[in-house]
Amino acid sequence: MTTDTTGTVARDGESRPGGPADSPFIRACRRRPGPHTPVWFMRQAGRSLPEYREIRATVPMLESCRRPDLVTEITLQPVRRHGVDAAILFSDIVVPVAAAGVDLDIVPGTGPVVAEPIRTAADVERIRLITREDVSYVDEAVRQLVVELGDTPLIGFAGAPFTLASYLVEGGPSRTHAKTKALMYGNPELWHALCGRLAEVTLAFLRVQIDAGVSAVQLFDSWAGALSEADYRRFVLPHSTAVLSGLEDAGVPRIHFGVGTAELLGAMGEAGADVVGVDWRTPLDVATGRIGPDKAVQGNLDPTVLLAPWPVVEAEVRRILEQGKAAPGHVFNLGHGVLPETDPEVLTRVVALVHEVSSRRADQG
Ligand code: CP3
Repeated sequence: MTTDTTGTVARDGESRPGGPADSPFIRACRRRPGPHTPVWFMRQAGRSLPEYREIRATVPMLESCRRPDLVTEITLQPVRRHGVDAAILFSDIVVPVAAAGVDLDIVPGTGPVVAEPIRTAADVERIRLITREDVSYVDEAVRQLVVELGDTPLIGFAGAPFTLASYLVEGGPSRTHAKTKALMYGNPELWHALCGRLAEVTLAFLRVQIDAGVSAVQLFDSWAGALSEADYRRFVLPHSTAVLSGLEDAGVPRIHFGVGTAELLGAMGEAGADVVGVDWRTPLDVATGRIGPDKAVQGNLDPTVLLAPWPVVEAEVRRILEQGKAAPGHVFNLGHGVLPETDPEVLTRVVALVHEVSSRRADQG
């Protein structure tokens, strides 16, 4: 696909000069040279920003995700403030699951909490398939944002089946994922039914965002690092592949991210991503060796480094840019989300430093 219905958004990277598909971010995802290494931050829209805290002071999290005016404003805040190379839609991984009929809430300081955790085949059956109408607020917000953002690409996202299943089976956040793994090992049939359904919901949710004009998508499998490679391949990879490969024809770069995934990087690349996200535990040159030469990498500054004095931050940013050169494309990011206590001025400085150090005017052609 080369144009959307408005004719303004090229999706194959061969776009008009200056459009989002010609941006440094999309070029890096496509392993094409660009003017500098692009940078954005997971959770760049959020509690590190006073302007975000002000909006959220009176509006619950899920409600803010369902109001296109607030989604648009919150998504734009870090772009205005930091000059990042991409915006990420303000939403949450549980938004489509709630739209599919699961009774849940996002509890401040805790995360998603599910009223009736999934235990049986009947519970799985109750997760409805979603249509555009079920998430019309996302459709509307993306369309507004694409206009507001101009040449800056917008990243859409969703949670991957394993990470979603973990919240649905545990009923909330879990350190060990014990109930999730007990279901996976003890009742593989039910496990695959659950993940198959979640893959369908996720695919539909991402298609709504792509149809509305996002320039790239990221699949967050934040907790996949809890699994061995063998179990990941058996219980998770087929479902994440259904999502990512299901978007093959959509023409937007697909990013696949997880935390603690050093042993899974190769397998995660196989799921059909164009870019693999790497946390801070694996140097990017080592990571690209595991992922292979046909995929870009994204990462991987430890978010806690941003709490250290500036010379420490600067040295780490330079190291990561250096190691990122081993990959055929590098999108600078953190290894996981921005911590709420991060000083936003440090984030702005990191963006400027990444741009300055990676500028390809003179030294790198
Ligand atoms: O990155 C961005 O700027 C876009 C926004 C975004 C949010 N959630 C907003 C949010 C994204 C991409 C997510 C994805 C998400 N949500 C993931 C995958 C990424 C990751 O962090 O691993 C996961 C696991 C969730 C589930 C979830 N939702 C958690 C663990 C929490 C944090 C709980 C807390 O209060 O610390 C949430 C709530 C949430 N989602 C917040 C934000 C800004 C905080 C809510 C608040 O401001 O009170």
